[in-house]
Amino acid sequence: MDTARFFAELPSHFAGDPQEHDPIDSGWDVIAKDVSGFTSPNELAVLNLAARLLPAEECYLEVGTFKGRSLCGAVRDVSGRKFYAMENFMEFGMAGELARAELLDNLGRYAADADVELLEGDCFRLMATPGVVDRPVGVYFYDGEHTQLSHYLALAVAEPLLADETLVLVDDASWPVVQRAHRLFLKSHPGWSIEATWDAREADDPRWANGLHALVFRRTAPSRLSRRDEALRRYQVSVQDRVNAVAWKAAGVMPGVVKSGARLLLSRSRAIGGGQR
Ligand SMILES: C[S@@+](CC[C@H](N)C(=O)[O-])C[C@H]1O[C@@H](n2cnc3c(N)ncnc32)[C@H](O)[C@@H]1O
Repeated sequence: MDTARFFAELPSHFAGDPQEHDPIDSGWDVIAKDVSGFTSPNELAVLNLAARLLPAEECYLEVGTFKGRSLCGAVRDVSGRKFYAMENFMEFGMAGELARAELLDNLGRYAADADVELLEGDCFRLMATPGVVDRPVGVYFYDGEHTQLSHYLALAVAEPLLADETLVLVDDASWPVVQRAHRLFLKSHPGWSIEATWDAREADDPRWANGLHALVFRRTAPSRLSRRDEALRRYQVSVQDRVNAVAWKAAGVMPGVVKSGARLLLSRSRAIGGGQR
């Protein structure tokens, strides 16, 4: 993926500096209003430009598809490119069947001509499964679980799948928890850099939601998961995953109690503008 071209072309898709302006194309608003989800029109414009610039011999990988808003934006008017989407239908008390049906309906309306493969399951298991994608990932969009460990693993576990030059877009990146994970990860993994940050001014900012950061990976040596990172991955898929499943189930049964507890626990790690970094 020619990431320099992506950063050079991006401003021409906005009415001015993307941080402060809306996209020129109002089509992103239409998708954001019609498809239930979390990504903003500005984010959709960024994802779509990335997909347009993807070389045919590379693929696009999204983690965290929910009902498909980000994917519907990414694939718009992009033909001849392969899109993979990983989703475990666990968060937001999503009743799997209902969420899946809504996702498939949205993809039917907005991505009927696109080559999309939905990979259902835990991304940290899927990404470590040999042959899960059929070509190097040139654009990687992470919008899955938002803990420090999951954001660290989102980069570590994906790295072996990435092309020699990859654009990596991370959602909710204005949250301190995401930035801490990136700092930790970049300290011990060569070839990675943070190239652009479009931050939210407030939680759920209409322009940038909770912030989008663009990282670039340039391979400097063959990628393989270190023993330490593999141990963290195993913890995530064997212990943390079960804890999450129980927590989301509890949220379905006692929504008020769980919401208040979660708000208290997450208030620092997800504070935008002046939160502890
Ligand atoms: C914030 S939502 C994604 C929003 C979506 N990209 C949009 O544009 O509306 C996060 C999604 O990630 C999924 N998710 C969380 N952890 C995951 C995991 N370990 N593997 C796969 N999907 C996961 C959740 O089920 C949820 O649907």
